[in-house]
Amino acid sequence: MRDTHSIAFRVNGRRHELTVESRRTLVDVLRHDLGYTGTHVGCEHGICGACTVLVDGAPVRSCLMFGVQADGRDVETVEGLGQPDALGPLQEAFSAEHGLQCGFCTPGFLMLLTAFLRESPAPSDDEIREVVASNLCRCTGYQGILRAARAAVTSSNEVRPPESGTS
Ligand code: FES
Ligand code: FES
Repeated sequence: MRDTHSIAFRVNGRRHELTVESRRTLVDVLRHDLGYTGTHVGCEHGICGACTVLVDGAPVRSCLMFGVQADGRDVETVEGLGQPDALGPLQEAFSAEHGLQCGFCTPGFLMLLTAFLRESPAPSDDEIREVVASNLCRCTGYQGILRAARAAVTSSNEVRPPESGTS
């Protein structure tokens, strides 16, 4: 008999209720049960970061998390960042700055940087480098990814209202 659980969680704000096997990983639940195929699967053992999604705002390697552990949580995937005809700012920056070539790693980098830039809206280059070093890209040499992250920081600073004075 299969060991299954009924769970409910939100993906990009949309609630899903489903029954999953205990052993099923979150990335398989997202891709195969719910159709969020934007999240990619590379190594399947926590090294490459291609499967990075946000769980309650924190980046998680979804190949290392079971689907049942998402019960009651808020999950964000690359589908929540924009649409093909209306890319989000970070996606625009990746496109403009050649932050991708084959694109296999890109959803993971986008989610990793989304969480990072929410926490650190004005990071140094060294801080960006340290963060992107946690995911693997075989194509770009990382320079385009760094430029994209910098461009996203700059554009968000341009639209952010000036901080009000303390006096
Ligand atoms: S597929 Fe999850 S870290 Fe590589
Ligand atoms: S763009 Fe090909 S692996 Fe990163």
